[in-house]
Formats: sequence, structure tokens, C-alpha cells
Amino acid sequence: MGRTKTEPAGHNAADFAWQQDDVFGRVADRYDLLCDLFSLGIHRLWKRRVARVIARERWTTLLDGATGTGDIILRVLPDVAEQGRSIVASDISLKMLAIAERRLARYPEVVQLRQLDAERMPSIASGSVDAYAISLALKICDRTLAMQEAWRVLRPGGRFIVLEASRIRWAPLHRVYLAYMSVCMPVLGWLATRGDASAYRYLLNGIRDFPDAEGLAQELTRCGFEDVSFERLSLGIVAIHTARKPPATAASQSG
Ligand SMILES: C[S@@+](CC[C@H](N)C(=O)[O-])C[C@H]1O[C@@H](n2cnc3c(N)ncnc32)[C@H](O)[C@@H]1O
Repeated sequence: MGRTKTEPAGHNAADFAWQQDDVFGRVADRYDLLCDLFSLGIHRLWKRRVARVIARERWTTLLDGATGTGDIILRVLPDVAEQGRSIVASDISLKMLAIAERRLARYPEVVQLRQLDAERMPSIASGSVDAYAISLALKICDRTLAMQEAWRVLRPGGRFIVLEASRIRWAPLHRVYLAYMSVCMPVLGWLATRGDASAYRYLLNGIRDFPDAEGLAQELTRCGFEDVSFERLSLGIVAIHTARKPPATAASQSG
């Protein structure tokens, strides 16, 4: 199932491969500042909203893929910490995980940090998690592999929650947004990273080439999820998709 390094990144909108560039490690200590700069602070609203969606789902075990600095889990925890729930916050970058560990240190009984590749997580047993969330990272993974892996690790009936770049429905406005991002991201990114071009190149590619909300919903359905729905935020700059792995039927259990 896994893609080898020499194969093209079929559904990797950003054309990013962590094996080839440790960009998130390099920008880890400035990552939250970069989010504020690139989104003019609006990412905080998106994260608050997706944290609320995650917290209100019914789960005992949650896996957060590509958790970064733990920004979203930090917003989920106040609502769930007292409820006997457990969270695995994972990322491929150890530097990002180190920051997440510091920020989530108040909740050692609830949160466990793990280095995991969202495209392939052999150490997570099939059907073992109730909910799986991934935010602002499907565009920098091979999303087909990441969605298949989400499907595998979820228990039947488990919930999948995705926050990701999307498209403003009025195409001319979306083009203006992309034009703005392609000017402001390089300038802000260059300043904030002291000249590290790759940090914003991946994000720009990812934003430009990621499917719209309907397109991602169709991909989730093709992957086997049901009850797929989405909510556009900030006119469609991003969207939150939720989906469910079909519950086990008597036939599938006996087969
Ligand atoms: C744009 S950040 C998003 C972080 C966090 N989810 C948030 O919303 O603040 C993307 C994260 O994905 C991680 N990442 C990139 N490729 C990955 C992979 N294949 N598996 C797991 N994490 C990955 C990066 O290290 C980085 O922390």
C-alpha cells in the first residue's frame, strides 16, 4: 500500500515528502507565529471550531495525526480532560512533537505523544481508535494513503475529522485569495524563516492544488467512509469534513 520514494506523490497537493526535507523541524519554533502571519490570526478561529467538533464527538480514544505543536489538542483538552478519555497526539517531526509535549504537559494522564507517519502507522492496530483527526496536513501528505490509513485504524463506526484548505466558492474571489497568498506568503515566510523558501512553497502548492469541499467529500466516500459532511469556514478558505467508518454488520463480523 505504501508509496516508495521514487514513485510520484500521486495525491500530495503540496508535493512534500518529509523524508526529503525537514522543513517542519526547521520552522518548529516559529510555526505558530507563521500561522498567525499567514492567516492574519484567523487560523485560531478554525482551530477553535474544529476542536469543538472533535470534543463533541463520542470517543474514548482519539488519534490526532500530524498534530504539529499540539495547537488543536490544546483546545480540545479543557472540554474532555475530566472525562476519562485518552488522546494520542502524533507527528512525523520530533521537533514539532517536542513543542507539543511542552505545551500539553499539564495533561500527562490524557495525552500521549508519538512519532507517526500519517501515511503508514503500523504500530496502531487496525480498528483500535474511536476518532481520528487530522488538521491542515492532508495537503502535505499523500492524502489517499492518509485517508486509507485513517480508515484502517478507526473502529467500525469510528469518526474521521479533517480540517483542511478548501476553495472559496466564487471563483474570482478564490483567485484573488490565491494571488494575495502567493505575494504575502513568500514575503512573510522569507522574513519569518530568515530566507527558507521551502516553508511557504509547500503550503502554497498545497492550498492551490487541494480539491474543493465537494471533491474531498467524494474522495472520502470513495475511500469507504459514510455520513460524509462538511462545513466551510471563512467563505471556504478552509473546510471541516466529518465522516464515519461504516459500523460492523453481522455479516462483516462473521466474515
Ligand atoms: C501545517 S502543520 C499542521 C499542524 C497542526 N495539525 C495544526 O493544525 O496546527 C503540518 C504538520 O504535519 C506534519 N507532517 C508532515 N508530513 C507528515 C506525515 N507524513 N505524517 C505525520 N505528520 C506529518 C508536519 O511535521 C507538521 O507538524
